[in-house]
Amino acid sequence: MDCNLQFILGLLCLLVVLISNPASGFKSEEFRKCNQAPFCKEARARKPGTSKAHVSEISLKDGSVRAKLLSFSETDEPAGALILLLTVYREGILRIRVKEENEPPSGKRRFEVPDVLVTGLEDRRLWIQRVSTENGVTVFYLAAGHEVVLQHSPFQIHVRKGSEQLVSFNSKGLFHFEQLRQKREGENWEETFRSHTDSRPHGPQSVSFDVSFHKAEHVYGIPEHATRLALKPTRGTEEYSEPYRLFNLDVFEYLEESPFGLYGSIPFMLSHNQDRTTGFFWLNAAEMLIDVLAPGWDKEVDNEEKTAASSIDTQWITESGPLDAFLFVGPTPKDVVKQYTSVTGTTTIPQYFATAYHQCRWNYKDEADVKHVDSKFDEFDIPYDVIWLDIEHTDGKKYFTWDPILFPNPEEMQKKIASKGRHMVTIVDPHIKRDDGYWVHKEATEEGYYVKDVQGRDYDGWCWPGSSSYLDMVNPAIRSWWADKFSLSSYKGSTPILYIWNDMNEPSVFNGPEASMPRDNLHYGGVENRDIHNAYGYYFHMASAEGLLRRGDANDRPFVLSRAFFAGTQRVGPVWTGDNTADWDHLRASVPMILTLGLTGIAFTGADVGGFFGNPDSELLTRWYQLGAFYPFFRAHAHLDTKRREPWLFGEPYTSLIRNAIDTRYALLPYYYTLFKEASTTGVPVMRPLWMEFPKDASTYAMDDEFMVGQGLLVRGIYAEGISVESVYLPGDEPWYHFETGAEYAGGHHYKMPVTLESILVFQKSGTIIPRKDRHRRSSTQTEKDPFTLVVALNTAKQAEGELYIDDGKSYDFEKGAFIHRKFIFSKGRLTSSSLHGQDNSRKGFSSSSLVDRIIILGLKPEESIGKHRALVESVNQKIDVERGPTILRRGAALNAVVIRMPNVAIADDWSIQLL
Ligand code: NOJ
Repeated sequence: MDCNLQFILGLLCLLVVLISNPASGFKSEEFRKCNQAPFCKEARARKPGTSKAHVSEISLKDGSVRAKLLSFSETDEPAGALILLLTVYREGILRIRVKEENEPPSGKRRFEVPDVLVTGLEDRRLWIQRVSTENGVTVFYLAAGHEVVLQHSPFQIHVRKGSEQLVSFNSKGLFHFEQLRQKREGENWEETFRSHTDSRPHGPQSVSFDVSFHKAEHVYGIPEHATRLALKPTRGTEEYSEPYRLFNLDVFEYLEESPFGLYGSIPFMLSHNQDRTTGFFWLNAAEMLIDVLAPGWDKEVDNEEKTAASSIDTQWITESGPLDAFLFVGPTPKDVVKQYTSVTGTTTIPQYFATAYHQCRWNYKDEADVKHVDSKFDEFDIPYDVIWLDIEHTDGKKYFTWDPILFPNPEEMQKKIASKGRHMVTIVDPHIKRDDGYWVHKEATEEGYYVKDVQGRDYDGWCWPGSSSYLDMVNPAIRSWWADKFSLSSYKGSTPILYIWNDMNEPSVFNGPEASMPRDNLHYGGVENRDIHNAYGYYFHMASAEGLLRRGDANDRPFVLSRAFFAGTQRVGPVWTGDNTADWDHLRASVPMILTLGLTGIAFTGADVGGFFGNPDSELLTRWYQLGAFYPFFRAHAHLDTKRREPWLFGEPYTSLIRNAIDTRYALLPYYYTLFKEASTTGVPVMRPLWMEFPKDASTYAMDDEFMVGQGLLVRGIYAEGISVESVYLPGDEPWYHFETGAEYAGGHHYKMPVTLESILVFQKSGTIIPRKDRHRRSSTQTEKDPFTLVVALNTAKQAEGELYIDDGKSYDFEKGAFIHRKFIFSKGRLTSSSLHGQDNSRKGFSSSSLVDRIIILGLKPEESIGKHRALVESVNQKIDVERGPTILRRGAALNAVVIRMPNVAIADDWSIQLL
């Protein structure tokens, strides 16, 4: 096409996007529904039992069970056989793979997404030694008393323990595998959606099957959707008519309750009941649709199946790609998350500053604006750690550049920010402006680094800069080239305190099908976007994080926020929930969205505080800060068209309330950092559904208006205007203590609590010890040497335990042992601190001079604390005074608190303090 004409068309298209969007909100018709995608429509129309697949020639090969899968469907022509491979990994993980036996006639192979499974996974394989075959079933051992049952005809896989079935694959007979084949005479493989035609050069290649979670009460996971935590059925009920869609898309003004696919995809589902949590993960980056089937979802389900009730059946459908799935047996919620993250990796531990408060908006418009905002935080005595610059800071949306008029001295600007221990983040998106004067475009064009269209030309799509091309991040060489762009010498104007934000990496293409990239676009190795789509953003994120790792002395943990994500993203960096709206429903929706990300491995996540679109009023903004202060990732952000809403702009009492919320987060940073350490080693998320901590309590299973932060804190958000009474459920049979007043509440009860605008409904679980830093500072960096407060919340046995993890908050030296990890135990009136990992970390390169200057003990009744006016610091044999009675916990009076002031024991040392 003539270049000018293309430019004008592009411009028109952008105008349409920009003009139409603000007024219109979410446009469902712009996104393909299941019945508009033949592969999905056909899969959904299949009746139970359609699959006639059966297995034969079962053998043990290299420690795996191998079998032939034949005649997989009644309706399809016989194609070559499929190969089934069943592999077992340590800790109760079964891998199920199905492949075409013969090279497909077209020469096309199913694309197996690299870089998702952790290196070393194969070392954790368990060699299957023996199988027993009898009466048409083959049985072999999985782990901890679990067995795998492979039924030959019809083909089914069950995992059982004793006589109890836990999870089944294809027990409903929906398995369907469209083998790659040659085009038949007269066949047309093209598909058109709205104005876009997909050439589908390799034709039908969809895979679908059913998975049943027996006796499950609920299923969870498969982000990203704005839905409730416990996934509602999508068939057999009125609620949703569409399956949950996993297809990374930039959805304008997404609804707060919908199964439509959003920016990221993790094909991992968990199921839970009182005795058991299980999980299922399908490693496939193509478009995926998942139906949660309500009991009796198909009238033709026979009676036997109907009475097999309490199982939750699900149907999984992809357009293309491999069948490579993992089944996790639990048995606890934490076990399943550990098993899943043992396969895809755990959340990398962030820098300390990144766990503090971030101030963002589209856009802080120039250097004076940045200076102003920064100084206002000081003037209003509100801490913050990071100021963010959105797309307008660049020179014409060319990333790695600065607008010469608005940001003439970026280094100077960053130095000033750095002088207060603060940091800066700039945005770097994957669309590259097609401007011959832009060196990134020039190099990428010359090297052939762009994703190609179906004709093999550099794909040209429309995004912020106008005509743009997209780097082919699937290619490791291109990722490496991209990573070099972040070096301080290449990224002019950047300094070591500058970190990165990757946006629009689904990728978003304003004039592409469903505002993304055509499925027949081509990546490295001739792989179609169709096959890689959901992982494109992950590769871009990975390359950017690699860039930060390489720059400077390479001993600085990268911080790169990403909007798009896939399984494995947790190893790279945090994500946020995209363009939410400043309304109460979106505030409410942020909790299940973040909980779901945590359950599926990504512990470092948050939602835009305040809501991206629209203008929150002062009450909503305040409530959002009060909730957001407990998100793992805590960042305020706002759309270009919104009114300014920095914390001081709404006046009193709002500024003070927002300050209090931010202060609360700063006080809790040592606790959060310790939880990030836990997430990075075990995969257990920072922010957890109640049922993860109280798996036996059925009343928590669908609860997503409350959540836990670690084991110690329960947070109940307030999601409506003008609330004066809020209901709170405090689970378990031990007491809870109000985080701010110390008031004690019995566990296992629903409460109606009076609330004011000041209230943050947070409770500390008894039996826990929470480390805090209560001194008020400008930024987290400045709290480094501050003393700790330990809040000891006693259970009915008058005991409590807690942990504290500290390292330099910045480098990878912790990998060499440069950290402090303390265990605190309170028992029989004595608080002890001991190292969790052997002694003397100072010799390994890290120590801390911080002291403990306050210990608050909650839960000693007046009669139990009588006489406890002294405490003995045993290591130095020194007696100190103890205060008893009302004390300020955070705000208000802490009832029944015993406070040991200034024990001044070193946080790095072993010590014990006995109440006398
Ligand atoms: C979309 C992102 O979701 C939003 O956070 C950002 O401000 C805009 N793009 C502009 O970069």
